[in-house]
Amino acid sequence: MKNIKSLSAEDFLLFQEFLVAETGLYFDNANDHFLREALYERMLAKGYASYLEYYNFLRYHLKGRQELRFLLARITTGETFFFRHSAQFSVLTNDLLPELIRKKMNTPGRSIKIWSAGCSRGNEAYSIAIGLMETLADYRDWAISILGTDINRDVLAAAQEAIYSQRDMGELPPAYVVKYFKEKWGKYTLIPEVKDLVRFEYHNLAGDAFGLDGMRDADIIFCRNVTIYFNHDTTQRLIHNFYDCLGEGGYLLLGHAETLWQIDHAFRTIEYPNTFIYQKLSHAAEPSKDVKPFIDMPTHVAPEPLAGTAATPVEAPAVSAGRADDMSRAAVLVNAEKYDEAAVLLAAMVKKDPLNAQATFFLATVQYKIGKFQEAERLFRQVIYLAPDSALAYFNLGNIYIARHNPAKAALEFGNALRLLEGRPPDESVRFCEDFTSGFLRQACQHHLGSLHRRVS
Ligand SMILES: C[S@@+](CC[C@H](N)C(=O)[O-])C[C@H]1O[C@@H](n2cnc3c(N)ncnc32)[C@H](O)[C@@H]1O
Repeated sequence: MKNIKSLSAEDFLLFQEFLVAETGLYFDNANDHFLREALYERMLAKGYASYLEYYNFLRYHLKGRQELRFLLARITTGETFFFRHSAQFSVLTNDLLPELIRKKMNTPGRSIKIWSAGCSRGNEAYSIAIGLMETLADYRDWAISILGTDINRDVLAAAQEAIYSQRDMGELPPAYVVKYFKEKWGKYTLIPEVKDLVRFEYHNLAGDAFGLDGMRDADIIFCRNVTIYFNHDTTQRLIHNFYDCLGEGGYLLLGHAETLWQIDHAFRTIEYPNTFIYQKLSHAAEPSKDVKPFIDMPTHVAPEPLAGTAATPVEAPAVSAGRADDMSRAAVLVNAEKYDEAAVLLAAMVKKDPLNAQATFFLATVQYKIGKFQEAERLFRQVIYLAPDSALAYFNLGNIYIARHNPAKAALEFGNALRLLEGRPPDESVRFCEDFTSGFLRQACQHHLGSLHRRVS
């Protein structure tokens, strides 16, 4: 077998640029092996002996479009499940839909438009439909449009079929499984009443016009776990397009690990328990840069201590090759959203070496991502014990307290982080996350303290 590493840096760049331009998908150092493996497989499948020949076929041949479809099916992760990030479905059914229903009740069309952008196998769009059916008893008397779009035609076909596995049921309450599915031999077929509420269409968020029925004047857009694969420019354009598509007062819901951090936008950020959502209000403030609510694992992992950070009182043992490997594997798992597996690996690392502050930090981050706030809190405290100079651990604790509605404790932790950052050069990387500087973290703490004070006063 040919070694997939034989893909030269120049050739890799060609594919990388082509994919960003065509699909927005960006493969960097942390996840380039997914692309490398897929390219190798597709190059062999098409019978080409070199990557350049395969590239020319993909890019210039009449059948290149068709091949792109196969490549996309291989490189897009369609990971999804029903009621994923259930905190957002609580907001949908308890807050957004009731508000929308009140607002539209007496309008002539009584229309509700919701778009699941990057819908994968339809679980998200159908979860929205179920949420709506549960909230609006006379939904049949309304003009309901729930649109699911994706760039991968294979997942769209599966969405239309709507037959799911036990794993797909995700966070769906058991009563809804019984109510909305017919189960036979471990396969769950969605009932027609739900299917009929949703329409699926092919759409490329990074290249196509935003003109499909159900996109313009949308009330709510879900685009979750899609922009994590895009670079900054693609995300910036997309968020701008979503803003244009939404009707006045409309909402944008992003994934748990996505924010509008470092994106110029005019959305209002609203905090709900365990989640943030964004609202279009034309009269809102000037375009703003949002503050990342939670700073997590870098996509690449640097051995500690990071350059420019002060030595910790408890000296961490030297980084062994095995430990660095484990840490890289954990980063790969996190990027693939395999948080449970990442947690197992990191917990084993922490158990083996309880003084490993970096692994403890990452484990805390992963626990936060899977909603185990109490455990995340305990672990961030442990990080502070091991590395008392970690402003980032204090900052993340502050965010956990915001999520748990404890503004007084949150303010205390942001204050602690600010004290640690005092006198630090603004362009110095913060410990545990080279991508963030002291200057940025200071700004983020000040932003949070400002809004906490505004809320209190
Ligand atoms: C991880 S899934 C997320 C599914 C669902 N939103 C959820 O959170 O459960 C990401 C989806 O985005 C789709 N996607 C990636 N790039 C896209 C693009 N440029 N346009 C439309 N969909 C895209 C992928 O095909 C994949 O189905």
